[in-house]
Amino acid sequence: MIYLDNAATSWPKPPAVLAALREFAEHEAANPDRACHRMGIAAGKRVGQARTGLAELLHAPDASRIAFTLNGTDALNMAVKGFLNDGDHVVTTTFEHNSLSRPLTGLERAGRIRVTRVGPRDDLTLSPDAVRRACGRDTRLVAVTAASNVFGVLNDVAGLAAAAHDRGAAILVDAAQAVGSAAIDVAAAGLDMVAFPCHKGLFGPMGTGALYVRPGLDLRTSREGGTGIRSEDATHPEEMPYRLEAGTPNAHGLAGLAAGLAFLRETGLQRVREREQSLARGFAQRLSGIPGVTVLNGRPGEGRTGIVTLRVAGLAAQEVAALLDGRYGIAVRAGLHCAPGAHKVLGSFPEGAVRVSFGFFNSDDDAESAARAIAEIAGKGV
Ligand code: ALA
Repeated sequence: MIYLDNAATSWPKPPAVLAALREFAEHEAANPDRACHRMGIAAGKRVGQARTGLAELLHAPDASRIAFTLNGTDALNMAVKGFLNDGDHVVTTTFEHNSLSRPLTGLERAGRIRVTRVGPRDDLTLSPDAVRRACGRDTRLVAVTAASNVFGVLNDVAGLAAAAHDRGAAILVDAAQAVGSAAIDVAAAGLDMVAFPCHKGLFGPMGTGALYVRPGLDLRTSREGGTGIRSEDATHPEEMPYRLEAGTPNAHGLAGLAAGLAFLRETGLQRVREREQSLARGFAQRLSGIPGVTVLNGRPGEGRTGIVTLRVAGLAAQEVAALLDGRYGIAVRAGLHCAPGAHKVLGSFPEGAVRVSFGFFNSDDDAESAARAIAEIAGKGV
C-alpha cells in the first residue's frame, strides 16, 4: 500500500511509537496518577512526558495549560462550548472543517450566538484585515483553522490573533493540519486556545487530542468526576489540566504520543515540513502536464502542508479513489473531507474532490507512482 492519506491520520507511525505502545502495554499500563504503586507512577510519568512534550513543541508557558482530549473535534467542542456565552458574536471562516463549523452552527441555529463567516483570498489564505473588519463590538471569539484540510495552505495565525485582540476578541485556532508540520508558538503568536488531534503530524495513535488554553482563561466544562487528586472534595478541581480532564485518560495512546513527540523533536519539524512540501510540489508538477487533471488548491510551495486536492475530468472523485486503491494499491481520501465549505470555495461542491496528502514517510517514488496512476486513470477515462 502506498499511503497518501496522512491528512486523515499519519501512517506508518515511527518504529519508536510502536515500541512505546508495546512497552507501555506490557510493563506500565496501570491507571496513571491514581495509585502510588510503581506501575501507576510509571504510567503517570508517560502521560506527563506527553504533556511536557506538547508544551515544548507549542512553546506553552506552562504544561498544565494543555488538556488531553479524545481527538481534535473533542478539543474544539470543549473550547467553543466552554468559552462562548449566549449572545456572543463569533467570526470564523467559510472553509472550516465540520469539527469547528458544526458546533458553531449548532449554537447559531439554537439562537444562542451570532456567526460571521469570512472567505479566503485568491491564494486561499485568510486575511487578518478581513477578520478585523468582520469583528464588531460584541465579537468575543475568532475561531479559525491554521490550515484547511482541503486547501493545505497555512494561515498567519499570529496576524489573525492580533486582529482578534485588536477588536477585544479571543482567538481559537484549529491546528489539526498544521501541528507537527508548521511551527506554532502560542506565546509569541498570542494564541488563546489551540485545538488539535495528536494522531496526524505528531505521530501519536488515534484517540489522542489536546486543547491548549492560555493562562488566565478558564473554560467551563461539562465533564466532572474522578481526577486522582483531592478525592475528598465534593466538586471537580478548578485548576488545569484537571479542570478539563475527568476519568481515566487514554494512557496507552499518550505513551505513544510521548514517543511521537520525541521522534518529531529528533527529526526536526523543519525537516518534516520540507519533505512534505517538496513531495507535494513534485507531485503537483507531475500532474500539471496530464490532460484532464486539475489541481484545485493552487501551486504547492512555501506556507503549505503536504496536501494536493485534484479532480479528474469525467470521473467522480470516489471512482478515482477506488481505482487508485483497487488497481494501484494507493490510499487517498475522496469526497468532501468533512469540509463542505472548503469545497464550495474551490467549486467542487457537492461532488467533492480527490485529496492526496503526503507525510514524512513518503518518498518521491510514491509521488511518481501516484502521478503515473492518475495519468493512466485520466487517459483511459474509465
Ligand atoms: N479530518 C480528517 C481529514 O481531513 C479526518 O481527513
